[in-house]
Amino acid sequence: MKLIAPSILSADFSRLGEEIRAVEAAGADWIHIDVMDGHFVPNITMGPIIIEAAKKSTRLPLDVHLMIENPDRLIPAFVKAGSDWISVQVEACVHLHRTVHLIKENGAKAGVVLNPATPLSAIEWILNDVDYILVMSVNPGFGGQKFIETSLDRIRRIRGMIEKSTPDSRTSPLIQIDGGVNDETIERISSAGVDVFVAGSAIFGSPDYRKTIEEFRRKLG
Ligand code: DX5
Ligand code: ZN
Repeated sequence: MKLIAPSILSADFSRLGEEIRAVEAAGADWIHIDVMDGHFVPNITMGPIIIEAAKKSTRLPLDVHLMIENPDRLIPAFVKAGSDWISVQVEACVHLHRTVHLIKENGAKAGVVLNPATPLSAIEWILNDVDYILVMSVNPGFGGQKFIETSLDRIRRIRGMIEKSTPDSRTSPLIQIDGGVNDETIERISSAGVDVFVAGSAIFGSPDYRKTIEEFRRKLG
């Protein structure tokens, strides 16, 4: 499966509904929403009220990437607002297993996110509990950063870990990549074994969203 998830972090926020409808019409599969708290990452973005507004603008699944400390206290509010998929940073979770199950109990799909320098062993014992694994290929906080090349090896290793622990591909977690995905990097990233491609600046910074997404799909094969 190969899915494209535009990150609205690079959208024009003064026309957010319009921007979301535009990427839906252009062929996006998910809408990726970056939540930042100014503590876990050095930037502040949006909260549940923006998820609620996004939900009214699209029928696509909302994929909410929580870059926040202590996510447990806000997970019910994010699900209630309309999040379909929620991922949490492993570095921000003291009780990761509990947090993953909290997301599921509230009715959303659950994912775990690894920063570029976090050892892969952090997710080894939770692979069978999650619906997706997000590999950060930039240090989180901002759009438009350069793809970190070592992410490719990390993806290949996670693919190997998944094959070992959940041999049935129908139940195995998806692998998602986030950061520096563009026309030049997407082919290599895809060959490493990624299912879901988050792209912010490469889509919202382009003059024709449909053309950009079509070009991505051509490169995904
Ligand atoms: C970074 C965010 C990303 C960001 C990606 O902290 O998690 O989702 O929007 O931006 P690009 O695609 O521009 O690297
Ligand atoms: Zn993100």
